[in-house]
Amino acid sequence: QRPILRLLSCPGTVAEDLRRDEQPSGSVETGFEDKIPRKRFSEMQNERREQAQRTVLIRCPEKISEKKFLKYLSQHGPINNHFFYESFGLYAVVEFCRKESVGSLQNGTRTPSMAMETAIPFRSRFLSLKLKNQTSEQSCIQSSDQLPPSNRKLFEITLLCRKYDQLNTLLKEFQLTEENTKLRYLTCSLIEDIAAAYFPDCVVRPFGSSVNTFGKLGCDLDMFLDLDETRNLSTHKTSGNFLTEFQVKNVPSERIATQKILSVIGECLDHFGPGCVGVQKILNARCPLVRFSHQASGFQCDLTTNNRIALTSSELLYIYGTLDSRVRALVFGIRCWARAHSLTSSIPGAWITNFSLTMMVIFFLQRRSPPILPTLDSLKTLADAEDKCIIEGNNCTFVRDLNRIKPSGNTETLELLLKEFFEYFGNFAFNKNSINIRQGREQNKPDSSPLYIQNPFETSLNISKNVSQSQLQKFVDLAQESAWVLQQKDTDRLSVSNNQPWGLAAILLPTVPNRRSFTKKKRKRSANESVRNLLESLKSNRTANFTETNEK
Ligand code: CTP
Ligand code: MG
Repeated sequence: QRPILRLLSCPGTVAEDLRRDEQPSGSVETGFEDKIPRKRFSEMQNERREQAQRTVLIRCPEKISEKKFLKYLSQHGPINNHFFYESFGLYAVVEFCRKESVGSLQNGTRTPSMAMETAIPFRSRFLSLKLKNQTSEQSCIQSSDQLPPSNRKLFEITLLCRKYDQLNTLLKEFQLTEENTKLRYLTCSLIEDIAAAYFPDCVVRPFGSSVNTFGKLGCDLDMFLDLDETRNLSTHKTSGNFLTEFQVKNVPSERIATQKILSVIGECLDHFGPGCVGVQKILNARCPLVRFSHQASGFQCDLTTNNRIALTSSELLYIYGTLDSRVRALVFGIRCWARAHSLTSSIPGAWITNFSLTMMVIFFLQRRSPPILPTLDSLKTLADAEDKCIIEGNNCTFVRDLNRIKPSGNTETLELLLKEFFEYFGNFAFNKNSINIRQGREQNKPDSSPLYIQNPFETSLNISKNVSQSQLQKFVDLAQESAWVLQQKDTDRLSVSNNQPWGLAAILLPTVPNRRSFTKKKRKRSANESVRNLLESLKSNRTANFTETNEK
């Protein structure tokens, strides 16, 4: 169950936000002029992990003075950064400048005593702040939002957007915020503390969309319990003629070891993990995992341990997402489009996943002329000795330093790329070809799976093996239809003043049953009706909100 997160501050309307952000008309939208700092994935992960280790999560009283709160905590040392958010109560994330401050704060913290229940005495970095006497404080706190904009807002954003590019606006609204990213690393760090009770040298690393630059607000938090340090400590060189080894228990396979470790960590999270609820051990899956909700952050977490390759594919996607800013904008647009048409779902099943969609976008961008993204094989040729990486016999070597990859000379606009994406996949020979980002070209399918996207590192695996023929057909139909809608291009743009959808807004409309059999005229009329209805309800909603705010 997702907690409800509420924004305390009073934001302006979307239209106001957009006006503020409008770019001068006529500016060219390409990706490579972007000046994003190009940090290596490992650097970024290490920095954020170290920050998270100096950070605490505090449940606060409903009414609190920010100034007094910071003064109280500063007794333990200077604070580097803090923010508040709401999730069934008010929480604060406080990052100290020094790690010792966390210890000092914990030393002055007691285990609560309760009348009816008994507390399990577990000292974590998730604390609760109580007022000593019941005098209520004046609240003057701005909290940050951790949830994505609603579908209604999504539509409003893309509809109202004129000069400013629709896809980039969507990206800005849906991407993970700095606060949300901090909260993700902190949650991993809190879980690492619990796992460290058994494995003191373990590291819990976020992977997947939380770190690969394609994460949308509200996406799950994939965690990797890294036990390599624990395993490799024995490789220290010692002098003398002897070698010491730990006495250990042996099990018949890596898979059984994984299951045993996750089983015990799962129990631990269930019994001692503050805020960890709904713990499920899914140990018979192809990749065994422990799934749980971290209530205080609102994240749905998947903890795994023997899939280091997934961490490497997150690093590869991070590189693709950082190389050219058009990549993320296009992926977000396609993800939102797929969600709006129920092509993807939060429930596992025969649908296309966001990971597969991201691979399709990358492949498409490799196929442009000139290519916008390099193939994985060409990233491999740019690698140096330090980048060499073999995991379980799979060659995972590719260049890690983003500055060594030449920017693309392609200047196509996002608007064109979106249309071409639908056209490309609306006509792709899925029946005989597979998608392969390693070589950046179609290949014959090695089996009869409806959709075949080769896993870039475990090359004998298909990452979209779960997708059924009917789900693939739905994707193809919608892609063809969206390409058609986008081709109506500039004439639609003129209709903005008549509140008619254009560009992305037009293809985010929910599918009308049997829409494909509609005549063009009918199709247009039904879209216009939907927009009119939506705008009417937006207007009345705004009036209601306005009245509500004024009444408070
Ligand atoms: N993964 C993989 N092969 C698969 C599925 C997943 O290698 N068949 C890896 C990918 O690195 C992926 C990560 O596991 O990024 C997490 O999977 P998932 O949560 O399904 O996808 P995300 O990319 O995190 O996207 P979402 O926002 O939907 O969670
Ligand atoms: Mg995920």
